[in-house]
Amino acid sequence: MHILGISASPRSGGNTDFIIKEVLKSAKESGASTEFLPMANKTVHPCKACEYCAEHKECTYDDDAELIFDKMMDADGIVIGSPVYFGNIAAPLKALIDRERVLWHQEKTFDGKVGAAVAVAWKWGHFPTLASISGFLLTNKAVLTSIGGIPGLGLMVYADEMGEAAENVESIEEAYALGKRIVALASKIGDGT
Ligand SMILES: Cc1cc2nc3c(=O)[nH]c(=O)nc-3n(C[C@H](O)[C@H](O)[C@H](O)COP(=O)(O)O)c2cc1C
Repeated sequence: MHILGISASPRSGGNTDFIIKEVLKSAKESGASTEFLPMANKTVHPCKACEYCAEHKECTYDDDAELIFDKMMDADGIVIGSPVYFGNIAAPLKALIDRERVLWHQEKTFDGKVGAAVAVAWKWGHFPTLASISGFLLTNKAVLTSIGGIPGLGLMVYADEMGEAAENVESIEEAYALGKRIVALASKIGDGT
């Protein structure tokens, strides 16, 4: 069982990175292998709608999108976190989502994989951010999960300054619950190996 954690924050070592790592720590404690994938050191160009992928089943860009999609395809569970930027996901994740067009043409989906969303913000915009991430996962047939209760659509973390999430005990507990939930559900869906 392998769980991939993607942080879409352009700020390396920030709050989103921290929370995604907490989710993965918990998944590991539940017996999964894990990988943390920060987008801060990745390059993903925005789709330019050239339609090359429709014919050739690959993208004209030679950047990190393919690597990220390959890692997603290899995982049993995928948790994606983004900082809220002006009420929605950060630009690197939007670029990745638009680039999923190549997956469609390759007829690849996240069918049978568990997906979960995390939004980190100072104050507002969690819900549109969670909806964007969840939409991405659901569009590609992932089985969406969360921990239930008020953060139903995914984890909502309140943090702003660098390091603030690490002081947020409630969010750390929720990240742990999410890690456990992803592994438990992925075990039910797959064969648990
Ligand atoms: C460009 C930019 C836009 C932001 N927009 C919002 C926003 O709409 N709502 C909000 O509550 N916080 C907003 N923030 C604050 C971040 O969401 C917050 O600092 C978060 O903790 C950053 O996560 P990170 O440390 O993982 O990068 C914004 C920050 C930046 C840099």
